[in-house]
Amino acid sequence: MPIADKLVQKSFSEIEQRSNSDIINKRRVINGEDDGLMQVSPLKHPFADEIFKTMLKNTWVPQEVPMGKDVEMWNTPGALTEQEKRVYERSLAFVSNLDGIQTNNLVINITRQITSPEVSLAIVRQAYEEALHVHSYATMIEALNLNPEDVYGLYRKDMELYNKNKRILQSFGKIAKPDFKTGTFEKDQLFLEACVANIVLEGIYFYSAFLIFYIFRRNNKMPGSADMIQFINRDEDMHLKLFISITNTIKEEQPELWTEGFQKEVRKIITDAVDLEYEWGKSCIGDGILGLTPENLREYLQFIGDMRLQMIGLPKKWNSKNPFPWIDEITQSSMIEVNFFEGTVKEYSIGTLDWD
Ligand SMILES: [Fe+2]
Ligand SMILES: [Fe+2]
Repeated sequence: MPIADKLVQKSFSEIEQRSNSDIINKRRVINGEDDGLMQVSPLKHPFADEIFKTMLKNTWVPQEVPMGKDVEMWNTPGALTEQEKRVYERSLAFVSNLDGIQTNNLVINITRQITSPEVSLAIVRQAYEEALHVHSYATMIEALNLNPEDVYGLYRKDMELYNKNKRILQSFGKIAKPDFKTGTFEKDQLFLEACVANIVLEGIYFYSAFLIFYIFRRNNKMPGSADMIQFINRDEDMHLKLFISITNTIKEEQPELWTEGFQKEVRKIITDAVDLEYEWGKSCIGDGILGLTPENLREYLQFIGDMRLQMIGLPKKWNSKNPFPWIDEITQSSMIEVNFFEGTVKEYSIGTLDWD
């Protein structure tokens, strides 16, 4: 039953009996009781509010990122090899498709199942950021005067891209039907599986493309594009954190869902995703490009995959080392923070989990 109907179907005398503590103590990520009025103070799920506040601090717009050097380089004969240009376009096509899929997935499939208002706020902000990313890729396409057919139209000519997009869309297919609703063991497991698909999208599928853009910049090629990707990467880190927390909180709230069989299934989803991402990355770089080889790409993706497994309480599979330790400096370094609220933010205390 949609949240709004729950409120409408209750009489005033029934509502009158309820207190805020009743509402908050019954709050859950899914299958909670909520009146649909977004009462987010105090909180039941403080992780979502922390992430939301960090997302606000991370506000940026693609027009702030200078693309002048990239435009000059793209148009200077010999500055980029033909192979490098194709790798660039193919990577751009894929990340653009991925953010497009995710914008729709969050808005259409995910938010309608969430019954925690603070979690909903964070997901709504995430959806805005995915839309911003879609817009960022369009900004790059326009700045470089690329043929949209070579980027947006690539999945119609490139079987590997078509298959990868199809596979990602299928991972959300089980919760996409208009009448899908959590509330049974089977449906709740399907929703949890979709949360894992989000972790895979945010935390594995972007990673060969991100790596390719950073490797270009380390070789003094297309630095504006890598800066744009770095802003996007910072957002994706928060999205990953959000879905890791959502997954772990659903596990706590409904531990019966996290069966041994289901854990095996989740492990397989993550390990298959690493293999798929490797196949895709390898098809982009061929024998190698600018020091990025199929071997170190595989090692890197396995290192990422192990981290994702551990984040949701599963053991590592590969024990691979990060062959590109400089990536950590990029993703964890303090970027230029566009903090519109500096000086005006107050420290609010966060409500306890059981509030009365
Ligand atoms: Fe995104
Ligand atoms: Fe994202």
